[in-house]
Amino acid sequence: MAQTENNMPRHIAIIMDGNGRWAKKRGLPRTAGHSAGGEAFRNIANYCRTLGVEYLTVYAFSTENWKRSEEEVSGIMKLLGKYLEEALRDMEKNHVRFRFFGDLSRLSPQLQKLCLDAQSRSSQYDEVQVNFCLNYGGRDEIIRGIRQFAQDVAAGKKSPNDLNEEEFSRYLDSAGVPDPELVIRPSGERRISNFLTWQTVYSEFVFMDVLWPDFGPEHLDAAIAEYQKRNRRFGGA
Ligand code: FPP
Repeated sequence: MAQTENNMPRHIAIIMDGNGRWAKKRGLPRTAGHSAGGEAFRNIANYCRTLGVEYLTVYAFSTENWKRSEEEVSGIMKLLGKYLEEALRDMEKNHVRFRFFGDLSRLSPQLQKLCLDAQSRSSQYDEVQVNFCLNYGGRDEIIRGIRQFAQDVAAGKKSPNDLNEEEFSRYLDSAGVPDPELVIRPSGERRISNFLTWQTVYSEFVFMDVLWPDFGPEHLDAAIAEYQKRNRRFGGA
C-alpha cells in the first residue's frame, strides 16, 4: 500500500463512538455527549492538519442512527448544522476542505444546503480534507453505486464489461479519495459497523478503550504509532 516517506498514513478514518456512555457516566443527556464529541472532532481535525494527514473521514451519522429517539436525532442534526455554519464562517482561517459521504437526500433541505456550500466553498484548500459521513452506510453506498452504474448501462454510456474495481470506485461517495490506511474505533467496541465497507479491505484497524469525547491528540499519536509498528513488522523495512 502506498505510504508517505515518514510512514504517516495519508488517510485516517474514525468511528466516533462512545458519546452516549460518556454522557451517562456524568449524568448528562446523550446530546451533551454528542456536543463533547463534536469538540473532540474539531480538535482532531486540526491536529490532523498539523500532522500533514491528507484525509480524515469521520462517521458522524449512520443509516442506522435514524432508529434513535427523535430527540437524539434532532440534537445531532442541530449540532452538525451549527458546526457547518461555523466552518463556513471560519473557513479562511482553518483551510479545511470538506466532502460528504452518504445519501444526503434524507437530510433537511437546510442541512443539505450547508453541506453543498461547505463542499463548494472549501474546494480550493489543500491542507486536509475532511470527509463527513452523514446518513452513510457502506452497503448503502455500494447499492447506490451499483444503481448508478446500471443506469449508465441502460442509458448506453457504459457496458457491463467496463466494470472492474477501479471503474466501480468512481461510482462510490469516496471517488478520487485513496483508501484509508488506518481505521480507528474508540470506546471499546470492536466492530466495523457498516463503515467504509469497500474502502477498508486492506486497512489496519486500531481499537481503543477511550470514549470519543475524551479522545485527544495523544490518542491519535498512539494509534498512528501502533499503525507504524505494524507496518514495520509486515513491510520488511
Ligand atoms: C456514536 O456514539 C456517535 C454518534 C452516533 C454521533 C456522532 C456525532 C458526533 C460526534 C457529533 C457530530 C458533530 C460534529 C460537529 C462532528 P454513541 O451515541 O453511539 O455512543 P454510545 O455507544 O456510548 O451510546
